[in-house]
Amino acid sequence: MLNIPQLTDFSEASLDAAFAQVQAEAKIAVAGEAFNIEGFRLEWLGRKQGRLKIISDTWLKTAPPEAKKLIGQRFNALKEAIESELAGRESFLKEFKQGLETPGSPFVPQLDITLPGTAQRLGVEHPLVRTMAEIVSVFQRMGYSVGLGPEVETDFYNFEALNFPPNHPARDTQDTLVVADQDSKPLRERLLMRTHTSPVQIRSMLEHDPPLRLVIPGKVHRNDAADATHSPVFHQVEGLCVGPDITFSDLKGTLDHAMKAFFGSAVKTRFFPSFFPFTEPSADVQISCIFCGGKGCRKCKHSGWIELLGCGMVDPAVFESVNQRRIELGRDPVYDTRRIAGFAFGMGVDRIAMMKYGISDIGLLYSGDMRFLEQFA
Ligand code: DAH
Repeated sequence: MLNIPQLTDFSEASLDAAFAQVQAEAKIAVAGEAFNIEGFRLEWLGRKQGRLKIISDTWLKTAPPEAKKLIGQRFNALKEAIESELAGRESFLKEFKQGLETPGSPFVPQLDITLPGTAQRLGVEHPLVRTMAEIVSVFQRMGYSVGLGPEVETDFYNFEALNFPPNHPARDTQDTLVVADQDSKPLRERLLMRTHTSPVQIRSMLEHDPPLRLVIPGKVHRNDAADATHSPVFHQVEGLCVGPDITFSDLKGTLDHAMKAFFGSAVKTRFFPSFFPFTEPSADVQISCIFCGGKGCRKCKHSGWIELLGCGMVDPAVFESVNQRRIELGRDPVYDTRRIAGFAFGMGVDRIAMMKYGISDIGLLYSGDMRFLEQFA
């Protein structure tokens, strides 16, 4: 283990080099991380096996008489150097240890680990996002997949393909925010902010052949003045189910199950005739009031029922525009109304979230006010 070479050259220069080499090794051992006083003493200064003892045995005692003096001087100098190196390190360690116990000493870390830390605040889902995810997951458990579409839409997808002809009064029910400077384009290509998630029905049917079952959560925009129940930005979850043999009773059963899964099994549903250009027949769905259980209260205006969503059987005109567009895109027009049928539905997420969490002003959902949002953490 000890690497002490035999001396063969006794010139002063070689002796200096040999001693310098040993001194350098000692210096490294003293400064090293593995240093401990007792171990070092034993290894270097041990009376029987220490390195200095071996050096004195191999270098000093066996040297030719004329070299003894030169070696002896260097040996004494080496011994002194190592002892002072060791003493220096010993006193540093002592000071360091005392310093750690002395406030204000440079050895005391400036970081006071006993102070309380800065709490990292965890973010949570926004109540709208959470509600939307919960609605989506009810349908995912029924085998629905999830689709998404753009918020900036063309007139074709938002209106025309959904059987809102140009200038048809049904367009007036969705006061639209349009993108500026589109007038030079043909109407169907003009850009607008989508007023509902229904255009994604069309996009999905262009992309996928039947059968298909999907829900489409997303943000929609209308040119509505903001008040406690209206916001120019709000959210919807759309649904579409198309296949052979899909009937109105599938629609009723699906939505009844979904409402019970979301609001609780005691909830009842009822369907009223309604109108949407893209469904025929169309219906509005009401659920028994979740606040009073149907007895009648202020929330349900004493009717016992709350109106929640629109739905219906997909209008053949919608399948027709999907097929037309598929032909334009070079795809098979497989939405053949002799073979398939479908239902669709759409619901407002904001109103559902407001009911669920007892929020009376829709604006709070968009205010970014931490005092409001913190309540959902
Ligand atoms: N898009 C309609 C709206 O925003 C909601 C709707 C009604 C969607 C009936 C549907 C549906 O898919 O079948 O007012």
